[in-house]
Amino acid sequence: MSHDPRFAGLRLLVSAGPTYEDIDPVRFLGNRSSGKMGFAIAAEAAALGAEVTLIAGPVTLPTPAGVRRIDVRRVLEMRAAVLAELPGQDAYIAAAAVADYMPEHTAAQKIKKTGDTLTLILVKTPDILAEVANHADRPRCVVGFAAETAELERYALGKLREKRLDMIAANDVSQPGVGFECDDNALTVFSAEGKHEIGHGTKAEVARELLGLVAERLGRTP
Ligand code: C5P
Repeated sequence: MSHDPRFAGLRLLVSAGPTYEDIDPVRFLGNRSSGKMGFAIAAEAAALGAEVTLIAGPVTLPTPAGVRRIDVRRVLEMRAAVLAELPGQDAYIAAAAVADYMPEHTAAQKIKKTGDTLTLILVKTPDILAEVANHADRPRCVVGFAAETAELERYALGKLREKRLDMIAANDVSQPGVGFECDDNALTVFSAEGKHEIGHGTKAEVARELLGLVAERLGRTP
């Protein structure tokens, strides 16, 4: 695959994968994100000639060629890594499935099964994407992902406005064959200008089309 002049020198920060929030030394709260969509975006962008930094949650995927990868586990580590890498980025694509809540405390020792019930107190995590979109070093193009099981458009448009994003790529994870744990995807990308459907394809194909929208947004024309 050859470089594309639209991506020459473009600096792209991508987050991918789940986060694991530790309950104790052997247990955690996680989610079903495989990291494949974010890794595909990083791989395609690097192949097109962009300078890509990938902040990866706990996944077993290989690092795509030409991509600088930083591994993290918890939301707080992901946040620190994203903010440290933010200066000078042209675009941020938040493809990670970041936990919305984390345990208030991580137990230092394995929790024993002494009672019939166990209550965990969870606290809200910082919203990394919203923080990036409102940051002094905000990249010119900030893209979020919305995995929804119902009312895709309403939730996606809500997030676009509330988090002050340039684009939000929404997928209906209740549909078989798209989204989590799959090799394929289909996205509806919302922006202030309207919506763009990216039809069903491999995550690499979908990533490439999404990157085309990012380049357009940054005023990079073929
Ligand atoms: O609000 P919701 O979690 O559905 O938004 C999803 C988008 O926000 C994704 O792009 C995800 O990476 C990002 N996010 C984040 N920090 C959080 C929660 C979500 O960056 N704490």
